[in-house]
Amino acid sequence: MKPQVAPSILSANFYDLRPQIESVKAAGASILHVDVMDGRFVPNISIGIPVIRTLSMYSGMTLDVHLMIEDPKRYVKAFADAGADWLTVHYEAVPQGGLEKLLKEIRAMGLKAGLSIKPDTPVVTLERFAEFCDIALIMTVPPGFGAQPYDADGDSRIRAAREILDRLNPGCILSVDGGIDTHTIAGASGAGAELFVAGSSVFGKPDPGAAVKELTERIEIKY
Ligand code: DX5
Ligand code: ZN
Repeated sequence: MKPQVAPSILSANFYDLRPQIESVKAAGASILHVDVMDGRFVPNISIGIPVIRTLSMYSGMTLDVHLMIEDPKRYVKAFADAGADWLTVHYEAVPQGGLEKLLKEIRAMGLKAGLSIKPDTPVVTLERFAEFCDIALIMTVPPGFGAQPYDADGDSRIRAAREILDRLNPGCILSVDGGIDTHTIAGASGAGAELFVAGSSVFGKPDPGAAVKELTERIEIKY
């Protein structure tokens, strides 16, 4: 896919969401990243189904829903019904042996199926599941909170993931999430990421649209 920024609403002002979404759309963003946290898989609780339902009805954006919840199988249908377009689950959150089936289930519902790995999980894990994934999401911070620093090993992990996907599933979108800003995005892009999830460096700024444009320019340095 064309390399692009996916703004993450975790860092948005929820009292005034609409103009912020219009701002990133006007700047060319078409994919909105939505972080769902359950207070168990990660030590934080964020947003869920009602917000996704209204975003699906009104935002006009592709909803890239990142489930940071234990045993996500329990909620896959509910998120699909709420209007998620992409649904990403964590390798570490799925009970042993259930991941391949779960990714297939997500695809069978007509959604793109994503697999995410935490910074401590070996990238080689992706090899086993690459063929069942439409998105591979490399976390470059420990999941749970925005505005954390980019993993020092982030670029090399992205490079390793790129090599695996080129070999096993070149159509799979390689996405990076955590600590993406104007300093880190070029490195992640050079390493082979295509989708750059950015929360605080977009919605933490006074003009989210201008922030998307600035980040996008840094991606294009490579191309
Ligand atoms: C963290 C979330 C991220 C978060 C990134 O657990 O998965 O999507 O919004 O925030 P920043 O871009 O501020 O690191
Ligand atoms: Zn996320």
